Amino acid sequence: MASTMKLVLFSALMFFSFQAVVSDTPQHPLNPLTSEEIIRVRNTVQEKYPTSSNRLSFHYIGLDDPEKDIILQWESTPNTTTVPRKALAIAIINSQTHEIVIDLQKENAIILSDNIHRGNGFPTLSVAEQDNATALPLTYGPFIDSVKKRGLNLSEVVCSAFTSGWFGEAQNNRTVRVECFMNESSPNIWVRPISGLTILVDLELMTIVEYEDRGIIPVATANNTEYRLSHQKPPFGPKQHSQATHQPDGPGFQISNHSVSWANWKFHIGFDPRAGLVISLASIYDLEKHKSRRVLYKGYISELFVPYQDPTDDFYYKTFFDAGEFGFGLSTVSLVPNLDCPSNAEFLDAYVHDASGTPVPIPNAVCVFEQYGSIMWRHTETGIPNDSFVETRTEVNLIVRTIVTVGNYDNIIDWKFKTSGSIIPAIALSGILEIKGVDIKHKDEIKSDQHGTLTSLKTVRVTDGSSKRKSYWTTETETAKSENDAKIIIGNAPGELSVVNPNKKTAVGNDVGYRLIPAIPAHPLLTDDDYPQIRGAFTNFNVWVTPYNRTEKWAGGLYVDHSHGEDTLAVWTQKNRDIENKDIVLWHVTGIHHVPAQEDFPIMPLLSTAFELRPTNFFDRNPVLKTLSPKFVKWPGCPNTTTH
Ligand SMILES: *[C@@H]1O[C@H](CO)[C@@H](O)[C@H](O)[C@H]1NC(C)=O
Ligand SMILES: *[C@@H]1O[C@H](CO)[C@@H](O)[C@H](O)[C@H]1NC(C)=O
Ligand SMILES: *[C@@H]1O[C@H](CO)[C@@H](O)[C@H](O)[C@H]1NC(C)=O
Ligand SMILES: *[C@@H]1O[C@H](CO)[C@@H](O)[C@H](O)[C@H]1NC(C)=O
Ligand SMILES: *[C@@H]1O[C@H](CO)[C@@H](O)[C@H](O)[C@H]1NC(C)=O
Ligand SMILES: *[C@@H]1O[C@H](CO)[C@@H](O)[C@H](O)[C@H]1NC(C)=O
Ligand SMILES: *[C@@H]1O[C@H](CO)[C@@H](O)[C@H](O)[C@H]1NC(C)=O
Ligand SMILES: *[C@@H]1O[C@H](CO)[C@@H](O)[C@H](O)[C@H]1NC(C)=O
Ligand SMILES: *[C@@H]1O[C@H](CO)[C@@H](O)[C@H](O)[C@H]1NC(C)=O
Ligand SMILES: *[C@@H]1O[C@H](CO)[C@@H](O)[C@H](O)[C@H]1NC(C)=O
Repeated sequence: MASTMKLVLFSALMFFSFQAVVSDTPQHPLNPLTSEEIIRVRNTVQEKYPTSSNRLSFHYIGLDDPEKDIILQWESTPNTTTVPRKALAIAIINSQTHEIVIDLQKENAIILSDNIHRGNGFPTLSVAEQDNATALPLTYGPFIDSVKKRGLNLSEVVCSAFTSGWFGEAQNNRTVRVECFMNESSPNIWVRPISGLTILVDLELMTIVEYEDRGIIPVATANNTEYRLSHQKPPFGPKQHSQATHQPDGPGFQISNHSVSWANWKFHIGFDPRAGLVISLASIYDLEKHKSRRVLYKGYISELFVPYQDPTDDFYYKTFFDAGEFGFGLSTVSLVPNLDCPSNAEFLDAYVHDASGTPVPIPNAVCVFEQYGSIMWRHTETGIPNDSFVETRTEVNLIVRTIVTVGNYDNIIDWKFKTSGSIIPAIALSGILEIKGVDIKHKDEIKSDQHGTLTSLKTVRVTDGSSKRKSYWTTETETAKSENDAKIIIGNAPGELSVVNPNKKTAVGNDVGYRLIPAIPAHPLLTDDDYPQIRGAFTNFNVWVTPYNRTEKWAGGLYVDHSHGEDTLAVWTQKNRDIENKDIVLWHVTGIHHVPAQEDFPIMPLLSTAFELRPTNFFDRNPVLKTLSPKFVKWPGCPNTTTH
């Protein structure tokens, strides 16, 4: 994985295509740390722990986001509210994990707190230490012998670092497994592992502490593993026709630094080394109430758990937590204009940091574009004799896209905003198989002023002969009052989950709310007492609701590498806190059990899952009733038929 990440972060240098729109708005308090701020964090920490006398590496440098009430206060009075600007640095200093909070407000940044983490689990791995670990086998005698024994050419071997999990040991050192692959004849290394080896590297000692060769298992042939276009032979196809999205009036959205306004939506695009893309403060303009209304305080992928399903020595340990162990932000790749995002997209760059605390740019980390072609609503009225008519509205959606590549898999993350009020987060997998199943986890934090209610639909049998129908639908409403009530698996049976504010009613008296239309549930494949499942216990249910708590951010825990599952959603909710009429967080777990098929070879077409947060009695009526369809534009090569 290391080599992929490095390639990603340092390639395509300095292609800055995002054009910041100049604006007077004060700096948004949720803007990610700038490169200058990252440098100040580094310098401040290094001042206290000079590298001449300390072993210091940075594993996280990000915004220490202010409390929610401060942000909301700022949102309503941006010019008069001052918001603290703080950074959180997680650094390993002389083999101890430090959590350092730094005040960035003053010219001279100061350390506000510096605590040592003494519990289980280690921080996100740095790219540099993975690179250093993966270089070790290539000069390690026993490994060189193993390569020779297999008749392989050492200079065609590439290695990658994999987190090694936790399997009940009382004490863990900070270790990774290194696995090596053949790069000869084809760059599709993931399908050509050198199997039968165990290489364990202690990252603090930076040495191989365990080595085992269990015997020769042949490396797969490179035949038919190529996926680069330059290496394909005819015939080519199927053919794709060229397309350009022509917006004569320009795009319908505006990005001012990180704040987006589009149609009736306003939201903020943040970026974090661990979470990657973060959507915050999404609000929608209500045409009838003449005001913007808050919908989502913050949404991001909290963790992604990938337990491979193979108990053998080569694979059993592969129980990855991609966000916490490798960093979704650190693993975000540059988007390819016109291919990853259409021609009408605008791009945002991002900064992460390396192990030395130096800012690392990711050009084109996020793209934003309008997507055409769907229908918003329609009706053909055929019931009125001699007077049939059609009313139809085309749909324009806004997409915010980012791609995270961790090792062999590429995760395409889309946040779709609809003018009808829905937000549809989607995650899709592509990339290269490493074998066996995959789980993807998605998390979401919802809206400040809404509160939990659980609505389930059930089927009622008609038994009294009162109707010719044998069954009908009715609704049964149940309110989740505590965290335990809200641990559910939604999507198996008909059922709906609405998040409502019982203190706010629509004109006809319904509770104002949003409903979750879940992704197809993916159940954990492991038993509850299996170590990976204890660590990934947040997958036990696909819906959880917790009272808002700024520090409960990571469903699998803050220190997830080698974690023992002591800081997960499953543990926090054991308190069974009250969630009724509270400021809450909704966690939705989506999954893809990837059972490989031949079509996934040598590279897999996208496999996706999505869910919808949909207004439910939030508006008094259809909020897009009076939407105007875009003007028809004549364009060379386009059929010019139109009913307008
Ligand atoms: C955008 O915000 C950053 C701080 O987050 C600030 O340094 C920069 O000047 C802003 N750019 C514009 C164009 O407003
Ligand atoms: C904040 O100040 C800017 C000018 O500095 C002004 O354009 C803007 O309208 C002000 N915003 C509010 C909400 O007062
Ligand atoms: C990686 O190795 C290089 C070269 O030996 C060294 O300078 C650097 O500090 C190492 N980095 C980490 C994070 O181990
Ligand atoms: C080993 O691989 C390198 C790089 O591809 C090549 O230059 C070299 O000739 C190979 N050696 C043998 C013995 O095949
Ligand atoms: C951890 O490393 C220390 C030496 O650094 C060693 O003595 C100890 O046995 C290791 N523990 C485990 C569980 O490997
Ligand atoms: C992988 O193989 C390609 C093509 O033979 C070669 O250009 C590249 O240098 C190799 N990389 C490594 C790290 O071996
Ligand atoms: C790989 O393909 C070539 C022809 O394209 C064939 O000669 C060779 O036998 C194949 N090798 C294996 C191991 O299948
Ligand atoms: C519909 O139009 C036909 C032909 O123009 C006419 O004969 C008929 O009476 C109309 N029906 C109604 C309900 O208006
Ligand atoms: C917030 O969450 C942390 C971690 O679960 C917990 O230690 C703390 O007590 C919580 N704070 C409140 C106010 O519940
Ligand atoms: C399209 O427009 C051209 C020029 O205005 C006209 O000649 C042609 O008939 C139109 N085609 C259709 C299908 O309406």
